[in-house]
Amino acid sequence: MQNQHEQYENARKRTKQKKRLYFHFFLFIIGSVFLAIANKFFGFGDQFIADWYIIAILIWSFLFIMHVVNVYITNRFFNKEWERIQTDKILAKHDKKIVKLEKKVLKEERFKESTASRQKKNQVITIIAAAAKNNEIGKDNKLIWHLSNDLKRFKQLTSGHAIIMGRKTFESFPKALPNRTNVVITRDLNYTAENAVVVHSLQEALEITKEDNQPFIIGGGEIYKQALSVAHKIELTRVDHDFEADTFFPELNSSWKEIMREDCFKDDKHDYNYSFITYERA
Ligand SMILES: NC(=O)c1ccc[n+]([C@@H]2O[C@H](COP(=O)([O-])OP(=O)(O)OC[C@H]3O[C@@H](n4cnc5c(N)ncnc54)[C@H](OP(=O)(O)O)[C@@H]3O)[C@@H](O)[C@H]2O)c1
Repeated sequence: MQNQHEQYENARKRTKQKKRLYFHFFLFIIGSVFLAIANKFFGFGDQFIADWYIIAILIWSFLFIMHVVNVYITNRFFNKEWERIQTDKILAKHDKKIVKLEKKVLKEERFKESTASRQKKNQVITIIAAAAKNNEIGKDNKLIWHLSNDLKRFKQLTSGHAIIMGRKTFESFPKALPNRTNVVITRDLNYTAENAVVVHSLQEALEITKEDNQPFIIGGGEIYKQALSVAHKIELTRVDHDFEADTFFPELNSSWKEIMREDCFKDDKHDYNYSFITYERA
């Protein structure tokens, strides 16, 4: 049955090709007659680089070669069997991709579940950051401002806890911050850091800090972005000024609710107004 169907399909295709060949041939004859008349009576084609009939023959030869290629190469080698093999290959590739995606989604879900279950065990994963009016947080791998009260608060909140950071933030410090477990995230498997634990993903960082009841994620921009979906709390210092920057804190969506705010004003030691704001996930 399938064989008959294929033969029928093949015959249909050949008939179509023949029809197209005849059509192009008639087109060539009619076109040539028209061109001959146009040339004889109106001088059409006199300005061409070649005689009109040479151009017509070239066009016809091109169409003819196209037909020959179609019949003897395209249809012989790129036939139904070839199409079937290609389709199978593409489908197999898609299947592989789907399995990979499913694994990734499963891994992310497990990660979220495990962070949710940590909160049940009273672990509060906290992001701590200082961001200016437009979410600026750094430039040229440095902080942009100096607010001594903010540094004091950072030290007071994070002392005794794990602080998780990207490799660039770690390298912006002169050395590991004292009285805290410094955890540095990098993709470089050979990276070493003095007085710090080196890990290769945020998941791994949270895994090794699971005994800490409040591990702090201290930046920078890349790590904040990844940590937003797993953090339970944000301690944000909002600096009331515009700065030139190359690194930014991510935009907070409506799932984050402000639960506390303390507004502070500029003085001898502080060049800008700033606010300490605490957010929790609603
Ligand atoms: N205002 C604030 O509160 C604050 C706080 C912290 C930092 N900052 C500022 O932020 C800037 C630094 O931030 P940044 O975004 O450029 O860099 P970053 O987040 O500190 O570090 C980025 C690096 O972390 C590693 N990394 C990121 N995602 C990873 C993953 N999924 N798996 C493994 N490794 C991963 C990579 O290290 P490798 O390249 O080694 O693979 C990447 O280059 C500086 O200007 C700093 O002063 C500001």
